[in-house]
Amino acid sequence: MAILKIARMGHPILARKANPVADPTTPEIKRLVADMIETMIDADGAGLAAPQVHVPLQVVIFQAPSDRTAADRAEGNLSEEEHYDHTAPLTVLINPVIEILDPAVEEGWEGCLSVPGLRGLVGRASHIRYSGVDTTGRKVQRVARGFHARVVQHECDHLEGVLYPSRMQDLSKLLFESEVHHWLAKNDAHAEAADQT
Ligand code: NI
Repeated sequence: MAILKIARMGHPILARKANPVADPTTPEIKRLVADMIETMIDADGAGLAAPQVHVPLQVVIFQAPSDRTAADRAEGNLSEEEHYDHTAPLTVLINPVIEILDPAVEEGWEGCLSVPGLRGLVGRASHIRYSGVDTTGRKVQRVARGFHARVVQHECDHLEGVLYPSRMQDLSKLLFESEVHHWLAKNDAHAEAADQT
């Protein structure tokens, strides 16, 4: 495995569309995914897309909570606010497709390993279904809300050549990470979920 160099905003690899993966089960793709995981952990990110490591393929990885179970709902744990969890399972998604289930937009703080040092308040669809395949060729399909839905949309944007600042409605909410506490002091909001992806 290897820690890969992360492309930063301005590099053309981040502005182009990624290509579909013809065969997700090849040793080359497994190696790419293993290297992406090592790179994401080393950089303390919550997600990573292949173009961020200079590979123009439709491969993303992210850590997000697994599906809500009937038991969770029965216990009243089904919350619209899904909090990021560093122990959450890692998802590998190849050739992903997103379907918006509820177009209602929710704002939340985002960061990106390709836009280091900054945080931005970004509106995203709050309820999606996503699908794709993993490196065994098995289909992955999940419904996601809250932060989980946000991370998936952020990562899949990388495959379209889109970085989060261009999704922002109000660039006055694009801040240096070191200054976010000023905004938080004035606003009753949470920025803990502003992990870099
Ligand atoms: Ni990102």
